Amino acid sequence: MIKKYNIKNKLSSYEVKGLIGIITPPSDKSISHRALLFSSLAVGKSTIYNLLHSEDVLNMVKALKTLGVKVINKNNICCVTGVGLNGFNTPNKHIDCGNSGTIARILLGAIGGSEIFVTLTGDSSLVNRPMDRVIKPLKKMGINFNSINNKLPLIIKGTSDILPIKYISPISSAQVKTTILLAGLNAHGTSEIIEPYSSRNHSENLLKYFGANIKYKTKLSGKNKVLITGGNNLKSCNITVPGDISSAAFALVAAIIIPGSSIKILNVGINYFRAGILEALDLMEAKIKLENKIINDYEEPVADILVQYSKLRGINLDSSFSARMIDEYPILAIAAAVASGKTRFCGLAELRYKESDRFRAIINGLVSCGIKVESNKDDIIIYGNNEVLGGATIDCLFDHRIAMSFIILGAISLKPIKVIGCKSISTSYPSFISEMNDIGMDIRVND
Ligand code: S3P
Repeated sequence: MIKKYNIKNKLSSYEVKGLIGIITPPSDKSISHRALLFSSLAVGKSTIYNLLHSEDVLNMVKALKTLGVKVINKNNICCVTGVGLNGFNTPNKHIDCGNSGTIARILLGAIGGSEIFVTLTGDSSLVNRPMDRVIKPLKKMGINFNSINNKLPLIIKGTSDILPIKYISPISSAQVKTTILLAGLNAHGTSEIIEPYSSRNHSENLLKYFGANIKYKTKLSGKNKVLITGGNNLKSCNITVPGDISSAAFALVAAIIIPGSSIKILNVGINYFRAGILEALDLMEAKIKLENKIINDYEEPVADILVQYSKLRGINLDSSFSARMIDEYPILAIAAAVASGKTRFCGLAELRYKESDRFRAIINGLVSCGIKVESNKDDIIIYGNNEVLGGATIDCLFDHRIAMSFIILGAISLKPIKVIGCKSISTSYPSFISEMNDIGMDIRVND
């Protein structure tokens, strides 16, 4: 299913003059995971167009097949025959979620309504990531778990007797919200989830499209409340997945910081709760224009993005931005490194729990490339400098977004930047190296 790009683990990125061309970013990873999982819980055959072909999504397909779901992918069209809300089979082997926190966390709520035992595990990064954030609410809903320290590997025991809950989440997390919503589909009654401010709402949009009894408002600020009432079957759907703004962000920032660049990025999902980076770059005075905006079948806005080299200025981003661009801080930090003046990102506690500790990775990586950076509690302060020394070797600890961010920084550094751990890029953006080189980057394989 997955086209092999065979990304080498050690790459170096050299200084270049300007990026010119058109990029079609890979399909949205969050929406791909949800399209597959929700189709599996529906009755009948759903068709997914433009599903992301990356390792994480391939692991979701494998997980669903292990649970008895039929998934056939041919010519970029994926057909999923749903088993209904509580129809997963007991698997004859464990489920390996690979590097993906999203798979592990959202699958638990979906499995919870089937009366089966399942063992979930993951790679060396994932087994160290917190699962208590989902185990806690799911236990309250009557689902049982067996784990050491609330981490993977764990065993989940589903139940036909899911209880509705009112859950006030201490964090804004789409994974937490989604897993409760999925468990709530099987509950006898209405569940309510409240988060401090809204995380990405793809699950709400898609669950509504699949016919779930869900109530939510697109509230741009303040507390977010979502209600779901169990018992309704999901109907099969046709879903087209837009391009991923989190992947598009690399070409976007690259074009902004490399003098002489002008590129167009096609078909990007610009959901308000994902598009914080566009607003942040606008505040930094980046030259960005949106074209051909449409709203798709499940209420997600999609547009083309035109972007040019821009002289950036440093900004203060308060913590209300963090949920709207949580995955984009590493690449925005690269933009901040060359902006004039100081940039402060506030409220980044959640960055410590991603594929690696991104809070540390941003600081250590920038400092090793000659940029002055400070931290204060959960804030990062970056002192922009239009001359980046580079010359560093960065071990991204198998974190795709850290790898891609420092490859982009190499393109404007006096000395090339070497990144170790680049194989991780295939979890989200397998064509990254070839596509970036096509528009003018100089990324080379190291011996
Ligand atoms: C995701 C939600 C975010 C994000 C992750 C994908 C999702 O995590 O960082 O890459 O698809 O739901 P949190 O929900 O933990 O914030």
